[in-house]
Amino acid sequence: MAAGGCATDGVAAKPQPKQAMPVPDRLIISPPVLQNAAETSIGVGFAVSAMANGYVDFSESPDMSGAKRVKCGGFRVTDMNDKIMLVRLTGLKPATTYYYRIGADRISYGGGYKMKIIGSEVDPRVYSFKTLGADAEASFCVINDTHAQMKPFEMAIDKIAALKPSCVIWNGDACNTQETIESLLPIFYTPEIAHGDYAAEQPFMFLPGNHDVRGLAARRMERVMMYRQPEERLSRDWDLGRNFAVRCGDIALVGLDTGEDKLDSRDVFAGLFNMEPYRVAQRDWLADALERPDIKSAPYLVALCHIPLYDSDPKSNPGDCDKNGGGRYSHDYARWQRTCKNLWSPLLEKAGCQVVITAHQHRYRYDAPNSEHAWGQIVGGGPELGVDSRRVKGARVEVKDGGKFPTVIEGRAEEGRLVVSVHDVFNGSLVDEFRYAPRNVVA
Ligand SMILES: [Fe+2]
Ligand SMILES: [Fe+2]
Repeated sequence: MAAGGCATDGVAAKPQPKQAMPVPDRLIISPPVLQNAAETSIGVGFAVSAMANGYVDFSESPDMSGAKRVKCGGFRVTDMNDKIMLVRLTGLKPATTYYYRIGADRISYGGGYKMKIIGSEVDPRVYSFKTLGADAEASFCVINDTHAQMKPFEMAIDKIAALKPSCVIWNGDACNTQETIESLLPIFYTPEIAHGDYAAEQPFMFLPGNHDVRGLAARRMERVMMYRQPEERLSRDWDLGRNFAVRCGDIALVGLDTGEDKLDSRDVFAGLFNMEPYRVAQRDWLADALERPDIKSAPYLVALCHIPLYDSDPKSNPGDCDKNGGGRYSHDYARWQRTCKNLWSPLLEKAGCQVVITAHQHRYRYDAPNSEHAWGQIVGGGPELGVDSRRVKGARVEVKDGGKFPTVIEGRAEEGRLVVSVHDVFNGSLVDEFRYAPRNVVA
């Protein structure tokens, strides 16, 4: 072997003439994506094609008068990078409409002492958003299990564009197993759908599913879809960046992360997962969140998490035992999360939670309150468009399955009730509608 490892088969590599890198036409390559909807803050992300420093100008006036500029990153240095600009707008008024524009400076980076701005670009469109809060319109939507598939995602986004809720919860399994940040861009920032600007004026909150924690890119997901604002939680809960408890009019929305659907001790994970203490930590977070005056005073309490907290089927693996539980279960992964139910449900029940909205099983289902849980549970549908694959005589074949369709779950407060509607966006029909009475609240 040649010393230095630079030559192959004894032939030294010829030095190549330096070529100027072509400068792409556009620096900003995606519309903005509003994320982490909240009462006094919001996150704005957008994708860029080259090393850049992004910013957001925002104002309460549609003519952008008196606009303030916020750069990506926090204190110390701006978050210069060549993929995604993440900007946090803070100190906002609750239930207030803001107008904003995005821009970015193109940066030539030649080292720590050699950087300069060589151009800038502004998206000319003025966008708007409205913050959440007790005075916001009490409406939300939930999508889930889109699994990087554009057809079901587009169907859901078209429905949301018609409903225009105050916020949308993306309840997990947006991804499959993503190894690179680039592979996350078409999922969150540049989806090839009619409403490619799906989140430019429609605030989203991202709650991970089990597929969103797999792959190298998932370990830095907050570089793509940012963690929530630190002031939303105690220092004890510093790493609980996906949990949220926010008022959306008369509805309190509480987001929890059920994590992986396999045990931390599962061989394929090589001891590199740490979900068990994560679930326990969220119990303490939840206990405090439910005692917050703004959450406690909401007539309606809706909890959201990816993996269901209940399943009546005794063959459904509850996720807290090895492999498939000695052959007792129909799947070798958690179909539902008994650990999370045991940790979180007593708190939710005590607080009078009306409904838990979950996902993961790729088939819409409603579990009415019963002796095992006082809340109703909605399990959202999956990405399959009326077909499923099953094993028939040993071979995998596609079979028609009318129970498989993507859903948009719509919640709103009206006429003294929480009304939750389940839309089948494949067949364009309303599947179910549930009405919940207000809980006893402390004014
Ligand atoms: Fe899924
Ligand atoms: Fe899942």
